[in-house]
Order: sequence, then structure tokens, then C-alpha cells
Amino acid sequence: MREYTIASQVCVYNYDELPIDERELVDIARESTYHSYAPYSHFYVGAALRLRNGVIIPGCNQENAASPVTICAERSAIFAAGAQYPEEPVMKIAITARNDNGFMSNPIPPCGSCRQVILETEDRFKQPIRILLACENGIHVVESIKALLPLQFVGESMI
Ligand code: THU
Repeated sequence: MREYTIASQVCVYNYDELPIDERELVDIARESTYHSYAPYSHFYVGAALRLRNGVIIPGCNQENAASPVTICAERSAIFAAGAQYPEEPVMKIAITARNDNGFMSNPIPPCGSCRQVILETEDRFKQPIRILLACENGIHVVESIKALLPLQFVGESMI
């Protein structure tokens, strides 16, 4: 038997410790929760991503009575970016969430489907995406989706 361990580093910042461009992303992710369409879960997720050209693309969850049709905040931002700026790598994404009682105390990491889409985006542009999970107890930051999705399945896995 052989075994190995896969470790991830997460850095936790106070809002004031972030560079200004990242504070802006966190602010827009927070604002985006107010555009969320979540009449079923009452869980409002906001995202904001920064492209290489500096443009910010917001996203938020869009629910549907037929629940599998719902799209998460992260994918709504990434797909909007792909539709508008297909040549621009995604550099960073901020994600946050609240319910009817306020913003969450703990980080809300992307779901499995969103992790896979973020991975595809990193792979597509050969550009790691810095992920900022903003919550009331700080901004939890990883440098790539690989920190949240070990043993990745990408196109090359099939060769
Ligand atoms: N949701 C997101 O927007 N992103 C995630 O990564 C986790 C879940 C949304 C989908 C749904 O509208 C609500 O949160 C509850 O699952």
C-alpha cells in the first residue's frame, strides 16, 4: 500500500488587509446577493469576478421551481464572462452569501459543479483563479480551485 496526503493552504484576511481591487470585488459580491433570485431557498449568493482586462463581472444565484435548473452565483458570473469576454482570463473571484438573517458567519465555498466549472476556466486560460470566500469572520483565500478540488478531472485526463 502507498498513500499520500493532499494539503491546501487557506489564508484568512480582514477586509482592511485586502488590496483595494479585492475589496471592490468583495463589495460587488455582497451587492450581488441583493440581485439573487432565491424564492425557494432564501439563500442569497453573490459572486464577482475580475478579468485580466480589469472588468468586473457580477453573478448571483438564479433559482427555478424545477430545482435542478437553478444556477449558482459562481457559474452565472463565469458564464456571463465567457459570453461577453471569451478571450479574457478570469483572475479572481469573490463569493459571499446571506440568508434572511444576514451575511453568513462562515465561508460558503463553491459547490462541486461550480468547482468543476472554475477548474475548466483555469485550464482553459492556463491561469489560476484566486478565490476569496467572504464572510463575517474574514475573507478566506485560496490561490487556485485546486486547493478546493484535489485530484482534478480535466480534458487532458482523457488522453
Ligand atoms: N448556491 C450558489 O449559488 N453557489 C454555491 O456554490 C452553493 C449554492 C445557491 C444555489 C441555490 O440557489 C442556493 O444556493 C441553495 O442551494
